[in-house]
Amino acid sequence: MFFASDNWAGAHSAINERLMNETTRFAAAYGNSDLDRTIEARFNDIFEKEVAVFFVATGTAANSLALANFAKPGGVIFAHADAHVIEDECGAPDFFSGMRIAPVEGTAGKIDPARLKARISRFPQDAVHHGRANSISITQATEVGTIYSLDEIRAISAIAKENGLPLHMDGARFANALVKLGTTPAEMTWKSGVDALSFGGTKNGCWCAEAVIFFDPEKAKEMPFLRKRAAQLFSKSRFISAQFDAYLKDDLWLDLARHANSMADLLREGLASSNSVRLAWQTESNEVFAVLPIERMHAAHAKGAKFYDWSEPANMAQPVQEGEMLVRLVTSFATERKDVEDFLEIVQAG
Ligand SMILES: Cc1ncc(COP(=O)(O)O)c(C=O)c1O
Repeated sequence: MFFASDNWAGAHSAINERLMNETTRFAAAYGNSDLDRTIEARFNDIFEKEVAVFFVATGTAANSLALANFAKPGGVIFAHADAHVIEDECGAPDFFSGMRIAPVEGTAGKIDPARLKARISRFPQDAVHHGRANSISITQATEVGTIYSLDEIRAISAIAKENGLPLHMDGARFANALVKLGTTPAEMTWKSGVDALSFGGTKNGCWCAEAVIFFDPEKAKEMPFLRKRAAQLFSKSRFISAQFDAYLKDDLWLDLARHANSMADLLREGLASSNSVRLAWQTESNEVFAVLPIERMHAAHAKGAKFYDWSEPANMAQPVQEGEMLVRLVTSFATERKDVEDFLEIVQAG
């Protein structure tokens, strides 16, 4: 019953096997092997255009370097107040970009377009004292388990274009959002106005594989230097490529995300139909937020379930009462139906 994070899951067997096959041969280092080139080219097919691809080890590195690529002195990045780039990256995007991030509010973990416009207007390009608007970052799927629709992405990108700002997408859970929307990688990104993407593989079955993708390679000319300077150019880069090779083959990545989402659906259904437990808000990806009686939470922990309690957001429709706890439950490619059923049985009893 591991619901603490999709990062707790192991790596998928097909990815492990592919890695093992890669270990016995020699190949050019620092991203210059044939395999690196082949996998980079595969991203062109996936996104239906020529893209610039940079492999890195963590989502934090991907976000930080994507944003650093657009940096200007005094630049201001706009992101949702709960965004990972603000809350969970120890200031790495600020450190690598030399800029700062202005939080923008919005319900359901999504930037509110009207508030974004208002916030940007406070940082005109000649605002030498305040700083100048530089870029926008959205998270897909969001940190609270929701998903921007294509129209919502387009509403944000329209504001980005009006203001001449690049739009970055933190896609740590890109695959989960993609299969839920039932759209294409191209539609969810550059065709909707996204300029740069942090493409996550680690949470969805890879051992350690993330990529920064730029949809206009001309705008990524500094990235090789930014990545090297950030110590993210791996001599044995081909082991990241090998993971992506298996991950992307025969749509494994989409199948894994579908499985994670379906396990979350099962959790949601079970929690919603229970008397003692309720969903904190509706989610659409592989994250579920629920309010449990504290004694049920302890009972689940005592039986070995792993999950985190969560701070209560300001705008919860039905606030957490005394004796209750808000918790986050994350499913993954490795979650089994029995884990979900066992967990539901524990929290529903009582
Ligand atoms: C929304 C989001 N972005 C990025 C990341 C990547 O973080 P890490 O640097 O831990 O790989 C995570 C991981 O928890 C995340 O949830």
